[in-house]
Amino acid sequence: MPRPDRQDSVWGDVPRPAYGADYNPEQWDTATWKEDVRLMGETGVNLVSLGVFAWSWVEPRPGVFDFAGLDEVIGLLDSAGIAVDLATPTAAPPRWFSHAHPQSLPVTADGLRLAPGSRQAYCPSSPAYRERAALVTRALAERYGEHPAVVMWHINNEYAGGNPHCWCEVSAAAFRTWLRATYGDDLDALNERWGTGVWGMTYSDWSQVEPPRTSTSRLSPGLWLDFYRFCDAEHLACYRAERDIVRAHSPGRPVTTNFMASALRTTDYWRWAPEVDIVSNDHYLGSEDPDRAADLAFAADLTRGLAGGRPWLLMEHSTSAVQWQARNIAKTPGEMARNTLTHLARGADGALFFQWRQSAYGPEKWHSAMLPHGGTDTRIWREAAALGSAVAGLADVARSSCPPAGIALLLDYEAMWALELTDRPSSDLTSGDALRSWHRALWTTGLPCDIVPAPGEHRLLLVPSLYALSGAAARALEEYAARGGHLVIGPFSGVVDPDDRLHPGPYPGVLRDLLGLRVDEYLPLAAGVTVGLDDGSTGGVWAERVVPDAGTEVETRFTGGPASGLPAVLRRGTVRYLATRPDETSLARLLPRWAAEAGCAPAPAGAGGGVEVVRRNGRDGRSWLFAVNHTQAPAEVAATGIDLLSGVSAAGAISIPAGGVAVVEVAAEGSGAAAGPSGAVLS
Ligand code: GAL
Repeated sequence: MPRPDRQDSVWGDVPRPAYGADYNPEQWDTATWKEDVRLMGETGVNLVSLGVFAWSWVEPRPGVFDFAGLDEVIGLLDSAGIAVDLATPTAAPPRWFSHAHPQSLPVTADGLRLAPGSRQAYCPSSPAYRERAALVTRALAERYGEHPAVVMWHINNEYAGGNPHCWCEVSAAAFRTWLRATYGDDLDALNERWGTGVWGMTYSDWSQVEPPRTSTSRLSPGLWLDFYRFCDAEHLACYRAERDIVRAHSPGRPVTTNFMASALRTTDYWRWAPEVDIVSNDHYLGSEDPDRAADLAFAADLTRGLAGGRPWLLMEHSTSAVQWQARNIAKTPGEMARNTLTHLARGADGALFFQWRQSAYGPEKWHSAMLPHGGTDTRIWREAAALGSAVAGLADVARSSCPPAGIALLLDYEAMWALELTDRPSSDLTSGDALRSWHRALWTTGLPCDIVPAPGEHRLLLVPSLYALSGAAARALEEYAARGGHLVIGPFSGVVDPDDRLHPGPYPGVLRDLLGLRVDEYLPLAAGVTVGLDDGSTGGVWAERVVPDAGTEVETRFTGGPASGLPAVLRRGTVRYLATRPDETSLARLLPRWAAEAGCAPAPAGAGGGVEVVRRNGRDGRSWLFAVNHTQAPAEVAATGIDLLSGVSAAGAISIPAGGVAVVEVAAEGSGAAAGPSGAVLS
């Protein structure tokens, strides 16, 4: 984690809190730019992400650069005091490029070469793409690297969003090169790790190694997992190349690329996070998702985890509806503010929207923006402007950080990829869903948690799902427990190594000693079937026939289903194992009990059931309590201090109206005045 004094130097001149949007002037005429900049001033916009998809605007023909538009726009923004997060436009190669280099277009597993015409139409391994991306990046960095308005760089956009994997011949050759380096040129080692002896699929020459293209039947899981690692590494190499060019020409300006952290897809963001100066994330709600408020907290907690204690930015979210879901439900009045302030509560030092002005044409014209089609006499505009001044009023909160929680949830991307491949005992046993459901259960009870890649100093470490696990990672869990850390490990964990090969001996492989048990048989449940537990809990998806070792306590037994009468929750010292997936209601009862037992602070008074109470602490001993009421009834939260949003002074408690938010400056934790979600870490 960077030293606090370094945090400020990393942020340079980036406004904090930042408030703004993606700005796409290439969609508008010059008169509109002037109006845009004037109106940005009215809404409190202080930072815009500029030029995200503007490659063909700045380089209309190969090698012919036209910066007139960008010069003018950056000049206008500069004169209005609006800072620029300048994007490299490399997420949207121009048509002239795709037509000149058709082999740069991505190919699907079925061998279909995708047509140009949309963004992200490139193969990340394409040398032609990388060369042209470097050229346009260099041209931009040379021209604007020292521009006073350019305070930050935004490389590409949502890497791997539309082109996570490519199966073209160029990728295949790059994959072979990557494998040869990874396996030290030892093809036998690769055969061994991928288990290619099955069905006699052993490679006898490197030239036979292909990406996992559509075939007659199943392919080696080891091949899939290495292909995922390779593709992620290729995108990261593209990012690094552009970042390094920018850094060379634009010293002192932080570089970011916007993550899609909560999408939990094909990017291992634990690898990416140290590569950016400022972690930034995009978050879009499922507009029909009844749990969408909890989803905000999940995205923010995960991004904070990726930032590793550093402040971070919400780079994109929407003012209201998006256009890419089946039914794009508008946000309700106040929801935009709640969404934004939930992120600020959980460590963001700014929030930007996609986008500034709602498009008049093209695929995203029905996506909301800060400035809607209807102009300034609209609800969205009024809310965006009011939010701008609310955010500006939180200037002192920026640079503060969230105290560590007592509870951590472990996320391992590779274990998630492995579990979610085909040919598993149950396709219902997914990893991302489990993580979200455990997080939701905590959120419902008001307990704060961090999301981490590995055991650290938290009192209680929750591991909902960890199918693939190396011996070294298992030892880290053992050491954590030996230090007194409390652990809860979900079913079907520790079964295989990172190449999806069974650990030797009875299940669950490398976790057997730590858990003090063996699993005789895994017993997936039919769709929708649930099983009772003798403490009143309900499990689903999965059961196991577990045989405890001597000294392992059986806390709860199955009362029905294929493991009826057998252990469902077992405990050895500070370590628990669950042989099923408890439903969320059960988790919401069990997790607070286990947290209390681990010595974690209870949920702050008034938190839970849709009311978030989250603390940020400043380095100067100041402290703020964010209370976000996602419910439709007023809520009372324990706090003493001044609400920075309403100016109301609270003595002991503050009432938050339905859908409302308060940010109360309270006495610092430990001073005995205000209750807060104090983090309890292992000592
Ligand atoms: C994001 C993307 C933006 C915009 C937005 C719409 O994934 O980065 O450019 O398309 O979605 O919701």
